[in-house]
Amino acid sequence: MSHPLKIAIAGLGTVGAGVLRLLWENGDLVARRCGRPIHVTAVSARARDRDRGVDLSKARWFGDAAAMARDADADVVVELIGGADGVAKSVCEAAIAAGRHVVTANKALLAHHGTALARAAEAAGVSLAYEAAVAGGIPIVKALREGLAGNRVSSLYGILNGTCNYILTQMRETGREFADVLAEAQALGYAEADPGFDVDGVDAAHKLSILTSVAFGCEVDFAGVHIEGIRHVSAQDIRFADELGYRIKLLAIARRTERGIEQRVHPCMVDLDSPIAHVDGVFNAIVAHGDFVGSTVYEGRGAGAGPTASAVAADIVDIARGTRIPTFAVPAASLRRLPSAPMDRHVGAYYIRLMVVDRPGVFADIAAGLRDAQVSMESILQRVRAPGGPVPVVMTTHDVEESAMRNALDRIRSFDAVLEPPTLIRIEPLAK
Ligand SMILES: NC(=O)c1ccc[n+]([C@@H]2O[C@H](COP(=O)([O-])OP(=O)(O)OC[C@H]3O[C@@H](n4cnc5c(N)ncnc54)[C@H](OP(=O)(O)O)[C@@H]3O)[C@@H](O)[C@H]2O)c1
Repeated sequence: MSHPLKIAIAGLGTVGAGVLRLLWENGDLVARRCGRPIHVTAVSARARDRDRGVDLSKARWFGDAAAMARDADADVVVELIGGADGVAKSVCEAAIAAGRHVVTANKALLAHHGTALARAAEAAGVSLAYEAAVAGGIPIVKALREGLAGNRVSSLYGILNGTCNYILTQMRETGREFADVLAEAQALGYAEADPGFDVDGVDAAHKLSILTSVAFGCEVDFAGVHIEGIRHVSAQDIRFADELGYRIKLLAIARRTERGIEQRVHPCMVDLDSPIAHVDGVFNAIVAHGDFVGSTVYEGRGAGAGPTASAVAADIVDIARGTRIPTFAVPAASLRRLPSAPMDRHVGAYYIRLMVVDRPGVFADIAAGLRDAQVSMESILQRVRAPGGPVPVVMTTHDVEESAMRNALDRIRSFDAVLEPPTLIRIEPLAK
């Protein structure tokens, strides 16, 4: 075997310790596949004395991760600290400046600085690899960058956040409300103490902006993602969705349109017979459409030590083998800045739930509000009667422009019989 590939690991938490365990348990297999062994020569974290469940005695300890990226005896720096800025960014920049390859699982960093880092890495002649940053163990970056390299990708969509998918699945299976299920997910360790990044759709948007760049050869445009989370989805919406033949999923969607690239993350009503409707719990899935291949589906675990370490290891193996693929599938210098399609021009069908006072004339007022905004109703459901009291009224619309839908809702929410802000969930016709 030829000389070892030397790696330095910054961050020894869930993912960092998982990578060390994988390299320990599967080290021989990985070495055979690479034609050379992988040696961990340096590590960095905050607490030196913490037991990580792995032997660190052969690696040099650095208290300063950026100094490690600069000075360690390493070919590759693996950044597993996290965060869009701060030390994680310094580590990657220092590694690239020192001519070392970078492997990272950090979607926030790439969503905000991916284009600049890709250009810096390319100028330095090193790899910037990030399979673990999107959909954990699913090799979606590899699939898009390599497997579908001959295709023009027209769209992709997916479930990119396991926490949200777990919460929505539990809400459907148990009939409980969002806050209750979130608290349980936090107790079980499926959701962070500060769940905002997950449940508000930011994490999925980070990942989507990366996939968009790979799929369409454009600069990473996180600011161009329309983002809504799942806090407003109630147990009632999930029951109504069932009744209408849908499942509610937080989808991340990227499409080429005539007006530019559409990137959006929001809860969607998806047909029960679409494959993604049945991806439950913490699982992730992605569907990508290429002009020659047609539709392709990828599913697996989107987080956790094992799946994420699996993706990090794949990147390390690529580097050990000498495989170099442009960061976002095309040379960084040729990444295009594409316009983002404005969300108010988005056209689709909508599910609307209103809480209204159950009294004569309310339906007629609502129907008039929709008609005046040129929104055409497809169906209306009122299952409960409570004369004089609050009842849910659910409507679905035909295809309409988002701006018209918003105008209609602004009008309707001002009616005194409408007791709460309306709930809007887009009905997504998924190409199969
Ligand atoms: N967890 C997952 O399932 C998952 C999945 C996909 C991607 N990711 C991404 O992987 C990255 C790591 O996530 P994680 O879950 O492993 O996080 P984590 O468990 O919180 O681990 C973070 C590690 O970074 C170390 N660290 C923090 N600040 C540091 C500093 N200033 N200098 C050196 N080390 C520092 C911590 O040290 P101490 O241990 O000493 O505190 C810890 O070892 C993030 O970008 C995350 O988004 C995670």
